[in-house]
Amino acid sequence: MGHHRNGKPGINKMGMIDYTKSHEWMQQDGYIDKFVGLVSLKKESYVLDAGCGSGYVADKIRPQVKDLLQIDHDWTMLSQNNVARHTETLKADLLNLWMIKDGIFDAVFCRSVFHRLREPSKAYQEFKRLLKPGGTLVTTVAHLPDTTFKEEYKEMVDRKGFRLYKTPAEWKEFFLENNDVSIIEEGTIDFDIDLNNWGLLKEHENASDDFKKHFKLENGIIKCQHVFFVIKKD
Ligand SMILES: C[S@@+](CC[C@H](N)C(=O)[O-])C[C@H]1O[C@@H](n2cnc3c(N)ncnc32)[C@H](O)[C@@H]1O
Repeated sequence: MGHHRNGKPGINKMGMIDYTKSHEWMQQDGYIDKFVGLVSLKKESYVLDAGCGSGYVADKIRPQVKDLLQIDHDWTMLSQNNVARHTETLKADLLNLWMIKDGIFDAVFCRSVFHRLREPSKAYQEFKRLLKPGGTLVTTVAHLPDTTFKEEYKEMVDRKGFRLYKTPAEWKEFFLENNDVSIIEEGTIDFDIDLNNWGLLKEHENASDDFKKHFKLENGIIKCQHVFFVIKKD
């Protein structure tokens, strides 16, 4: 699929998000190690990687736990997922996981997915249903920088198929909405995005000075940040 059809480098002509240029940042060990290290896994743990993509997170989780299920709805991502050769893997929509029993996972990992969902509360409900009481959801999300260039930011990442633009405080509110969980840890994870791979280099070069300063564009690379939440089901 071309990357610039409809003038949108991250969306193909059918309106589907094209992740083929996203693999470089997803493979950065610093990010994965910090993310996976947010919860202590046990040899007897049952774990779900929701929106697993090509399995870069799952690859680190698998050797530490009893069983791992990966789920994603994108065939291109799954076709490059080597973990799928030796662990349960399902092609499904996270908004409806009817085929899985209630209360079976000790931990659900969900990296960089929520800001892309049409109905994030449905997926969140499903994750909580699938967790054992006391189980943990570990997630990271892209967030709206609380700055003057909000609209510029939205316009930029809209082209990569982002659907939700929440500040860290709004994300927190979203996760706490039904009073059935506690957030036991929250923070940020820094990583680099190489725009030569990811796209939007021209757009970043033409952005406002404030925008450029925020993302520290240098040699085609920007400094990005996701927020993380470690959420315990009551
Ligand atoms: C940015 S990638 C992250 C992949 C993986 N979590 C990682 O960190 O390496 C987002 C992933 O979420 C998946 N995804 C988005 N919406 C989904 C949905 N409704 N159901 C299943 N997977 C979904 C995409 O197909 C994609 O693989």
